[in-house]
Amino acid sequence: MLLKYNIFFFKYIFFILIFTILSFPANSELSIEETIKGRKALFSKNYSTAKKVQIFATKGEFDKAKTLMLEMSENYKNLVKYFPENTKEGFKTEALPSIWENKEEFNDLMNKSSNDMIELASIIENSDDVKVSLNKLMWGNCKACHSKFRAPH
Ligand code: HEC
Repeated sequence: MLLKYNIFFFKYIFFILIFTILSFPANSELSIEETIKGRKALFSKNYSTAKKVQIFATKGEFDKAKTLMLEMSENYKNLVKYFPENTKEGFKTEALPSIWENKEEFNDLMNKSSNDMIELASIIENSDDVKVSLNKLMWGNCKACHSKFRAPH
């Protein structure tokens, strides 16, 4: 009887432990450092992906280019969540205060950039001038946002 009780007790403790361990990362929010470094990493990733998109698209390898365009689109969607109020400064951020003063405009621009990548993927193959399309729907958005929301570097 006592043994049975002990086994039950240990099982109980065991499950509580597992549950705590598993739920810990899910419940804890990203720290300020993780958020700022995380968004920098996402932007850097988008930059290297954009360069690949440019190469594939101008070579006429549209399937590869399109896959990467959709990847960039997803990245932009994710990025919207990486600018909470408490990440205005620190960790060498180049984000300008104007982001939080014009949060709606900033988010709109991020969502537009995301949607433009989807549009780019749908038109690129039949576009008259691939480079013009890339500039309009991809590179143009980097510039539009950086000129207002990212510190000169
Ligand atoms: C809607 C706004 C927005 C768009 C669109 C955007 N960026 Fe940025 N980008 C930012 C902001 C804000 C930062 C500064 C982030 C920080 O330092 O916390 C940044 C930072 C960067 C960085 C530096 C990352 C680092 O390691 O510090 C690179 C590279 C970059 N962007 C490339 C691009 C490229 C390439 C595009 C287009 C394909 C692009 N961005 C589109 C807002 C944007």
